[in-house]
Amino acid sequence: MSTRKILVTSALPYANGSIHLGHMLEHIQTDIWARFQKARGHECYFVCADDAHGTPIMLKAQEQGITPEQMIARTQIEHEADFAGFGIDFDNYYSTHSDENREFASHIYTKLHDNGYIKRKTISQLFDPEKQMFLPDRFVKGDCPKCGALDQNGDSCDVCGATYSPTEVKNARSVVSGATPVLKDSEHYFFDLPAFSQMLQDWTRSGSLQEEMANKLQEWFKDGLQMWDISRDAPYFGFEIPGAPGKFFYVWLDAPIGYLASFKNLCDKTGIDFDSFWKLDSDAEVYHFIGKDIIYFHSLFWPAMLHGAGMRKPNAIFAHGFVTVNGAKMSKSRGTFIKARTYLDHLNPEYLRYYFASKLSSSIIDLDLNLDDFSQKVNADLVGKVVNIASRCASFITKRFDGSLSATVAEPALMTEFVNAGESIAESFENREFARAIRDIMTLADKANQYIDAKAPWVLVKDDSKQQEAHDVCSMGINLFRVLMHYLKPVLPLMAAETEAFLNSELNWSNYKLPLTNHAINPFKALMQRVDPVKINAMLEASKENLQQQTVTTDTTVGKTAKVEKASNTEREPISDTISIDDFAKIDLRVAKIIKASAVEGADKLVQLQLDIGGGETRQVFAGIKAAYSPEQLEGRLTVMVANLAPRKMRFGLSEGMVLAAGPGGSDLFILSPDEGAQPGMRVK
Ligand code: MSP
Ligand code: ZN
Repeated sequence: MSTRKILVTSALPYANGSIHLGHMLEHIQTDIWARFQKARGHECYFVCADDAHGTPIMLKAQEQGITPEQMIARTQIEHEADFAGFGIDFDNYYSTHSDENREFASHIYTKLHDNGYIKRKTISQLFDPEKQMFLPDRFVKGDCPKCGALDQNGDSCDVCGATYSPTEVKNARSVVSGATPVLKDSEHYFFDLPAFSQMLQDWTRSGSLQEEMANKLQEWFKDGLQMWDISRDAPYFGFEIPGAPGKFFYVWLDAPIGYLASFKNLCDKTGIDFDSFWKLDSDAEVYHFIGKDIIYFHSLFWPAMLHGAGMRKPNAIFAHGFVTVNGAKMSKSRGTFIKARTYLDHLNPEYLRYYFASKLSSSIIDLDLNLDDFSQKVNADLVGKVVNIASRCASFITKRFDGSLSATVAEPALMTEFVNAGESIAESFENREFARAIRDIMTLADKANQYIDAKAPWVLVKDDSKQQEAHDVCSMGINLFRVLMHYLKPVLPLMAAETEAFLNSELNWSNYKLPLTNHAINPFKALMQRVDPVKINAMLEASKENLQQQTVTTDTTVGKTAKVEKASNTEREPISDTISIDDFAKIDLRVAKIIKASAVEGADKLVQLQLDIGGGETRQVFAGIKAAYSPEQLEGRLTVMVANLAPRKMRFGLSEGMVLAAGPGGSDLFILSPDEGAQPGMRVK
C-alpha cells in the first residue's frame, strides 16, 4: 500500500450563526474519513475555516454595535469550541478574513482577469436610500407580484410559490431600515462561467462525481450556464477588488479560496509543501465535503475559477443530504433546531458520531435524526453489544487471573474471521459507506456475544477444574472486543482512547491482527452509559429556550421596524415539501371538547387534557401548552385534535393524540378552535 497525499475540507460555516447539528453531520462525516485515512498511514490533512464575509455578517455586527472583525473573532472561538466538543480533529481551522485569503483571492482574480474571463456590465438594483446600500434579495420584502400575498420575500412567494426579481415586488421595503428601496445603476464584475462549459462537462464525466450530482449538473448544462456576478458595492465586509475601488468580491468568490488559505496557513506553520498539493500536475488528492445546497458553487464556479487561473481542480466533491429531526426540517419552534452547544450540554458527543455514521452512505439523501431511534441504536449497539463484550469478560480477568490475558487464543478461527473482515470494512470507510461498515462491525459484535453466551465464563469460573478455560474464554472475548474497537476508532475516538488505556495497547492497523496474549490489562471502567431520555427532553426544551432568548436579544438591540422583521424572519418556519391529498386524508382530525384540564406534577410545560371526541369516547392527551394557557382557560373549550396519532407512553401516562396549536412555542402558542356550532367528533377536512 503506497502512501497517498490527501487534503480534505468541510464547507466553511458562516461566521454569523452558531454551529448546529446539520453542520455537525458534515464535520463528523469528514472527520471520520480523515481519521480513517490517517490511521491507514496516509499523509492526510483536514482543514476548514469560518466564512467571514458578506452583507448579513456586516449587518449583524452593526446590530450588536461591534465591528465585523470583533464579531467574527468571537464567533470563531465559539465555533472551534463546538467542533472540539465533538472531537473534530482539524489540522487547521482558519478564517476567510485572513491575509493568505486576500492574497489568493487577488491572485486568482488577476489571473482570471488577465486571461479575459472577467467582464463588466452595468446593472440596476434595489438600493436603500436611508442606509445608502444596495440590498441583497433577502433584505427586500413586499407583496407578491403574482398573487398579492403580503409580506413576502424579495425573491419568492411562500403562498403561491412564484419566484421573481426583487424589483417586481409590490410595496417593497428594505428589511434593514424599513425605507422604500429605489432602483439604482452600478457597474458589476462578472466571471465568464459559460466559457468553461466544455471543460466542466468533461470534468463531470471524469467519473469522480456522485451519480446524483452528475445528473444535476447535466440539467444545469442543458439550461445553459450564466455569467456570474462576483462584485458587490461598498459598504460590504470583504476584500476590495484589485484595480476597482469601492467594489468588493462577493462572499462566494473568496469562500472556496478559503480552503487554499487555511491549508497555506497550515503549511507555513508546519513546513508542508503547499505546491506539491496544488500545482497543476500534483499527485495529491483534494476532496471537498459539502451539503447538497452548495453543489453549484463547488462543482461549477470553483473548478472553473481554478482552471481559469491555471490551477489544479479537486479530485471530487462529496455532497451529503440534509439532517432532519424526527422526520421534519429542523425547526426552531419544535425545539429541533439543535445547536451543537445545546447538544453538548446534555448528551455524549460520541452518541451522535455513532448515530450519524450508522446512517451515512455515499449518497445525497437526507438523514433523519429520529431521537427514539437514536437512543435505541446507541443503547442496543454500543452499550448492549460492543461494551457488553468487554464488561462480561474484564472483571474475571482482573479479579481471578491477575489482570493478565491468557497465553493462548481459544478460538483461532473466530479470531481470523474478525481480523479478515478488516479489509472490507476499510473499503466501506474509504467509499464513505459508513453505514455498511457499522453494519458489518455489529454483525461481528453479535458473533462475539454469541460466543460468550455459549461458553458462559460466569459458569466456568465456579468450577475449579475449568479455570484455564474460563481464562481463555474471557481473554478471547477481550481480544474480539479489541478488534471491534479498532474498527470503530475513527467513529468513536474518545471511547477508543479509553479502550487503549484499558487494554494497555494502541489500536492500529499494523497491530490489530495479532491478538494480545500474556498481556496485562487495566481494570475495566464503563466505557459508555445508556442514553438518558430525560436528557434528550432537556436538550429539546433548551433548544426552545434558545429561540426565546434570541428573540429577546434581538428586541433590545435593533429598532422597531427591524424588530418585527427579525421576529418574523427567525420564527416563520419554511413551508414543508408538498404532500398528496391521500397523505392528507390519512390524518384524522377531529373536533374535540376539553372536558378537563389539569397541571401535571413534575412537568412544568405540560397540561393534562381529557377530551370528548364524540360517540361517547374520551381521550387523554398531554400538551406542552402550560406556558400559554392555565388549565382553567382551557376547560370547556372546543379544539382540534389528531385522533389517529399512535399513542405515546410518556413519563406521566399515555398520550392518545395531539391537540393542534400554532406559534413559535413557549407562551407564544395559540390553540386552534373551530367556529361555533361544531360538535365533538366532527371530522375536520
Ligand atoms: N459559507 C457557506 C459555505 C462556503 S464553502 C466554501 C455555507 N455555510 S453554512 O454555514 O450555511 O453551511 C455550511 C455547511 O453546512 C454546508 O455544507 C451546508 O450544506 C451544511 N448544512 C447546513 N445545514 C445543514 C443541514 N440541516 N443538514 C446537513 N448539512 C447542512 O453554506
Ligand atoms: Zn404569491
